[in-house]
Amino acid sequence: MAETLGTLEELPLDYREAMTAAGVAPLWPMMRNVLPHGAPKPVTKPGFWSYAAVRPLLVRAGELTPVEKAERRVLVLSDPGRGAGAMLATPSIYIGLQLLLPGETAPAHRHTPSAARIIVEGKGGFTVVDGEKLPMEVGDLVLTPGGEWHDHGHEGTEPVVWLDALDLPLFVYLEGSYAEEAPLQAQRNRPDASQVEYLASGLAPARGRGAQVRRYPMMRYPWVRTEAALREMAKWGGEDPVEADFVNPETGEDVLPIMGFTAMMLREGETLRPPLVSSASVFHVVKGHGTSRINGETIAWGPKDTFSAPCFAEIDHHAGEEAFLMRVHDRPLQEKLRFYEERAR
Ligand SMILES: [Fe+2]
Repeated sequence: MAETLGTLEELPLDYREAMTAAGVAPLWPMMRNVLPHGAPKPVTKPGFWSYAAVRPLLVRAGELTPVEKAERRVLVLSDPGRGAGAMLATPSIYIGLQLLLPGETAPAHRHTPSAARIIVEGKGGFTVVDGEKLPMEVGDLVLTPGGEWHDHGHEGTEPVVWLDALDLPLFVYLEGSYAEEAPLQAQRNRPDASQVEYLASGLAPARGRGAQVRRYPMMRYPWVRTEAALREMAKWGGEDPVEADFVNPETGEDVLPIMGFTAMMLREGETLRPPLVSSASVFHVVKGHGTSRINGETIAWGPKDTFSAPCFAEIDHHAGEEAFLMRVHDRPLQEKLRFYEERAR
C-alpha cells in the first residue's frame, strides 16, 4: 500500500476545472482523510467545562432572555476541536446545560432524537414523560426517549440546572431531526415507575403471555439508589473498578437506542487506567475532586464540572478524594454498527 497518495495540486488546472464543472472530484487526494490507517483520526479534542465558569453565564441568560424567547434556555458545550458554537461535544453526543427558573414551564413536545438529563442543582424541577411525572433530584438520570411526549416544570424556589445529553448530531447529519409541540400533558396521579414497578432491582411486574411492555419502562434512575449500589460494589469488589451501566429493567439493554450511560465511583486515592475504546465519552462529576489526564492533557475537576474524551483517548482518572462520575458514551451506537472496539494499553 502506497504511503502517500497523489495530491490535487499535482493535477493540471484545466483537468481540475473540468472536474468541478462536471460536479465530480478525485477520491485519492481525500482518501486518507476518510480512511486513515490503523485507527480513526478524530477532530474531537478533550473538553473541559468548569461549572464555576458556566453557571454565572447560565444565570445571566435567565435575566437576559425570558424562557418564552428561548424555549429552552441552554448553553451548548461545544467540542474544542470544532470550536464555540459546534452543536456537539463528541461526534454523536450533544451536551447542554439548561436553566429553569421557579414557576417556568417548557411546553410539551417530542422529537426524533433521544435525550437524557443529569440533574446538576436545585430542587422542585420535574419532567413529565408520557403522562408520568418524574421528580428531578441532583444526580438523577431522567430519560426523554425519541418520540415520547415530554414537558418540564418547576415547583421549587431556586434555579434548577440540568445537563442535557442528546444523540442529536447523528439525527442532524441524517436530516432526520425535528420536533412537534402540544399543550401540557395531563399527569397521571401516581409516582414514577422507579418507585413502583421497578422499585427493586431484579423485580418486574408479572404479566400474561404476550402482554405489552412499555418500550421505555423506567424513565428515572434516582441518584440515591445509584450511589448506594456503587458504594456496595466498591465495598465488596476488591480492587475492581466500580462502574455500573444504566439498563432497561425489562430487557437489560442500554436505556436508549444509541446513547449509553454509566455511573462510576472512584475510591479515595484511586487511579483508573481504562482500555482504549472506540467510543467517545462525556464525564459529569456528581461529587468529589480529582484529575483526569486525557491524551496528555490534565484536567482538574470538581463537583458539577463536565469533561469529554474523544475515541481511543488515553485516559487516567485519579481521585484525591472519594468521587462519583456519570459517563455518557456512544457504545450502543457503535455496537449496533458492529465496530465497537477495545484495545489494551
Ligand atoms: Fe425535549
